[in-house]
Amino acid sequence: MEKEVRAIVLAAGKGTRMKSAKPKVLHEIFNKPLLGWVVEAIARLHTKTQSIVIIGHGAPTVEEYLNKNYKYVKTTLQKEQLGTGHAVAQALPLLHDFRGNVIITCGDTPLISTKTLRNLVRYHNENAADLTVMTTLFDNPYGYGRIIRNTKDEIIKIIEEKDANDTIKEIKEVNTGVYCLDWAKIRKAFTELKNNNVQGEYYLTDIIKWARDNAYKVLGFVNKDSDEIYGINSRQNLAHAAKLMKDRYNKQLMEHGVTIVDPESTYISPETTIDIDTTIYPNTYIEGKNTIAKNCKIGPMAHIRGNCEVGEGCKIGNFVELKNAKIAKNTNVCHLSYVGDAIIGSKVNIGAGTIFANYNSITKEKKMSTLHDGVSIGSNSVIVAPVEVGSEAFVAASSCITKDVESQSLAMSRSPQKEMKNWVKNMKEKK
Ligand code: UD1
Ligand code: CA
Repeated sequence: MEKEVRAIVLAAGKGTRMKSAKPKVLHEIFNKPLLGWVVEAIARLHTKTQSIVIIGHGAPTVEEYLNKNYKYVKTTLQKEQLGTGHAVAQALPLLHDFRGNVIITCGDTPLISTKTLRNLVRYHNENAADLTVMTTLFDNPYGYGRIIRNTKDEIIKIIEEKDANDTIKEIKEVNTGVYCLDWAKIRKAFTELKNNNVQGEYYLTDIIKWARDNAYKVLGFVNKDSDEIYGINSRQNLAHAAKLMKDRYNKQLMEHGVTIVDPESTYISPETTIDIDTTIYPNTYIEGKNTIAKNCKIGPMAHIRGNCEVGEGCKIGNFVELKNAKIAKNTNVCHLSYVGDAIIGSKVNIGAGTIFANYNSITKEKKMSTLHDGVSIGSNSVIVAPVEVGSEAFVAASSCITKDVESQSLAMSRSPQKEMKNWVKNMKEKK
């Protein structure tokens, strides 16, 4: 039987270089905090693999975020940040009688994938290791802990940049900060760590040497995709990570049969699925969970904000924003519209500049509207939720719809057009 897996996520550090009032791990990519990406990658390993997140700086806010979004995650407080080894030690009471494998990872590496974590655990199990450290190769390894191997190619220890001499700094194999350990065997290390190093910290990396000294089997799992462990320390890093995430997903979508006219300017959250032969035009931004069916045209300059379903053959054109909208087949929302909190049938045409007024800023309530199949909404109309427009009904341009409209009806709510004959001529003559 496969061993149970738990994870410890280190997220107590300050993130000084972010220069932010907000804890680093709550900074977002595609509207999701860095920590959320990590916790979800872990949860997908098995159904909701339990994570223990070590919190410290900004603990109440981080805890609130986790409680609200991930009920299966536990947190534990590291009151003082005395180092990565000390951080892991805070999880000892929670894992008191746990006997499976523990993955350790950081909360600021949002690109880590479930696949890689799974491969790490598999490698660890198949090779009957007691401690496996994930490593990668960097042309510029500056800042990372270097992997020290002996003549038999075994990993004997890790030396931090700040503790390294010039020869060691030449080593390109680095510690990714992701580990898998046989908890029952290795947990004792955390009660024996010392802080006799340049930074005066309890280094997690010292468990490597500890494990060897105690005759445990230590292995290195080399992950060739070094992007995956890209860590966020600054706003520049944050921007770069978002770019890596979107580049990676754009590539995957194109391989799957989606046309992306300009991958450089197109941001699509990896939580959105898009079917074949859909074309995404430049400067489109898609965040959150959405499904877009085949043969659609999206953009240019469309903004899809999450919880949207776009049916086959739809057109979502320029300067259109969608949020929580379920749109059936062959419907067009071609220009300058906001469609939020709506259920829209098939073959609906939404004219330019249509707005769904879904939000009451006093009651803070959001309401849904429904447009049935074949409805036509004239340009510059406002659909004030909650309303229902029956199939094939026609709303005249510039109407403000506040009541339900029956199927096949024409609804018009604008002042009738007046015409004053010769008004211009008369004005000029008066002058
Ligand atoms: C660490 C590793 C280094 C590795 C690198 C990979 C150690 C000693 N070094 O270095 O070998 O190459 O990660 O990114 O482990 N944290 C806490 N409590 C603390 C200290 C840190 O929770 O007391 C958290 C931080 O919030 C962060 C993570 O641990 O998420 C890593 O800490 P950081 O200080 O960034 O370690 P590095 O110097 O990057
Ligand atoms: Ca770091």
